[in-house]
Amino acid sequence: MTPQPPDELKRLAARLRTARQLRRLSRLPSEHGDSVSFAVLGDVEPCRFWTLRKLFNQEGVFAEQMEEIQRQPVKFIVQLGDMVEKGEPRRYEDFLRRHARAWRGGKPYLTVIGNHDRSRPNGRSHSTLYRGLFGRANYAFDHAGARFVVLDSSAKRVSAAQLRWLDKVLDTPRRKIVFTHMPPVHLGLWGGVGRLHSLGGFIGGAREFSEIVSRRGVARVYMGHVHAFGVQDHQGVRYVLTGGGGSALFPSGNADRFHHFLTVELTPHGIRERVHSLDGRVFHIPSAPVILPTREHGTFWTALARRARRRVARVCGV
Ligand SMILES: [Fe+2]
Repeated sequence: MTPQPPDELKRLAARLRTARQLRRLSRLPSEHGDSVSFAVLGDVEPCRFWTLRKLFNQEGVFAEQMEEIQRQPVKFIVQLGDMVEKGEPRRYEDFLRRHARAWRGGKPYLTVIGNHDRSRPNGRSHSTLYRGLFGRANYAFDHAGARFVVLDSSAKRVSAAQLRWLDKVLDTPRRKIVFTHMPPVHLGLWGGVGRLHSLGGFIGGAREFSEIVSRRGVARVYMGHVHAFGVQDHQGVRYVLTGGGGSALFPSGNADRFHHFLTVELTPHGIRERVHSLDGRVFHIPSAPVILPTREHGTFWTALARRARRRVARVCGV
């Protein structure tokens, strides 16, 4: 039997259900035809391990950034997942109670499921509670001449059925934007080697995902999971990593670790993104292509063997 969320928790989450937020968005007047501005906010959960939290987390960042976003001239907000440390009723309840102010009377707020929003952040897990509270984990909507697609990569894979759905939903002449929690693992932006690298992205279906978004002419893929900022153009698609929503800034392969959110201006002439850093700095993301080497995903041992081979070659001068 599928466990049902407690009534009180359902009541707290009801106003944030995706269907309700999309209804609110559809009722808002379209101010400039095919133009729209929206905000993207990355990972929020503060880390469930006390020591790591003390070392790397900064209290109150999510609330502060949400306050700032509500002041921005954006139509809606997308949060890229990992809202709670672990997808348990008490953690969702605590999060929704603690941050009730962040959404009150505010802009439509859409969620993406992250690995921490599942029953376990790593390993075998399910997303029953998240779906019971917020609705579908894969969904799409049209607004201001664009199609926005939210894809569930929280289980560190994208299934064949999801890929078929993605391909179908992206079959539109509209401009296309994709949001997903994890980056596909082969992108080179977030560093690491072997299995450590795989912590930075989803593995199953990663290449197929990139092939589809490339073939369908997706303009942007926004991702979190790695608590950092970065941009990478890959096979004609711009991937933007924006994982600085409020979670702990752990050391990772990416040096650009700072708390921030994005505002995105979608117009018939293109896309302009601004990065709003918690310290008040705001900068545009330049449009010049960012081409980085992609990575072959392998096991820890194959990566170690590769490093050993390189070291031997260096020592032997070959
Ligand atoms: Fe994550």
